[in-house]
Amino acid sequence: MRRRRNNLSIIRICSLLVFVGALCGNPTGVGGLRDVNMTVPVAVSPGDTVTLHCSYDLEGDPLYTVKWYKGRQEFFRYVPKELPHTRVFPLPGVNVDVSKSGANQVVLLDVQLELAGKYRCEVSADAPTFHTEVVVSHMHVAYLPEGDPKLQVEKRRYAVGDTLRGNCSSPASSPPTNLTWIINGKRMNASFSKQDAVRSDDPQSRKVTTIGLELDMDSSIFQTGKLRVQCVATMFQLYRQEAETILEEERPRLASVLGTRESSLGSATRWRGAWWLLSALALLSFLTR
Ligand SMILES: *[C@@H]1O[C@H](CO)[C@@H](O)[C@H](O)[C@H]1NC(C)=O
Ligand SMILES: *[C@@H]1O[C@H](CO)[C@@H](O)[C@H](O)[C@H]1NC(C)=O
Ligand SMILES: *[C@@H]1O[C@H](CO)[C@@H](O)[C@H](O)[C@H]1NC(C)=O
Ligand SMILES: *[C@@H]1O[C@H](CO)[C@@H](O)[C@H](O)[C@H]1NC(C)=O
Repeated sequence: MRRRRNNLSIIRICSLLVFVGALCGNPTGVGGLRDVNMTVPVAVSPGDTVTLHCSYDLEGDPLYTVKWYKGRQEFFRYVPKELPHTRVFPLPGVNVDVSKSGANQVVLLDVQLELAGKYRCEVSADAPTFHTEVVVSHMHVAYLPEGDPKLQVEKRRYAVGDTLRGNCSSPASSPPTNLTWIINGKRMNASFSKQDAVRSDDPQSRKVTTIGLELDMDSSIFQTGKLRVQCVATMFQLYRQEAETILEEERPRLASVLGTRESSLGSATRWRGAWWLLSALALLSFLTR
């Protein structure tokens, strides 16, 4: 009795292994799902129409499904065996343009802030392999800054030993911009960086970014007496603007000292000339008398 039961369970395990092998293996020896790639814009503006692409190579295998997820929620499915081929699952804020969505893409209309986040594309091959692959991508929904960054410095001329102090602010945006100082072509750390809400009740929760600069001036910093200060504001690949100013080194006024000496020399020569002229006139008047 006992022995027979053991034999039975061995048969069960074996048949299970064969079944799993059939599922995981590729009995035909050709095909197989590979190169699943997703192309999603890094960042878009609210109101945009956005196309999410998903490409894959089935190497001749039939396609079973392409499923699209936002976070954990499926919102679109493409099933070539079913009619219609497409199915939309309601998700707040997601407006799928079904007429333009299909085996390799899904088109979202009027994208708003809540659509920022993680997207997944899940591709499955049909029987016999049922091979499935998932790729993930991120999308930001951004309110671009309206305008350029503004740069302020304490003063325009600096002597060696002075401290350069300045601020740079970019217009309100969501998310906040990245601001960077560049001095004579070299990136510099900001002395502070802060983000202030444009208004506490701003529906887009936009923020103004400000960075500070505090730099001790040593002689190596000036290039031919000039200092080029740039502040660059960026937001993903969507926005890049900069503000720039040229500051000057304050030096001892060597040139003007020389100038003074030259003119005093000149006046001495002139005095001597005048003296000679007067003497000549005096001599002339003495002789003609
Ligand atoms: C898809 O990604 C794979 C590697 O992840 C790469 O080899 C292939 O070139 C990519 N294909 C496209 C069309 O981007
Ligand atoms: C920079 O900002 C700080 C604080 O916001 C302020 O105290 C300082 O006066 C500003 N400096 C310049 C040069 O505008
Ligand atoms: C800038 O900051 C980084 C990290 O906070 C630090 O490693 C680096 O030395 C700083 N550079 C300068 C020029 O202060
Ligand atoms: C700011 O820079 C960081 C680091 O390079 C990057 O991860 C982030 O996406 C940037 N943010 C924006 C709004 O550009």
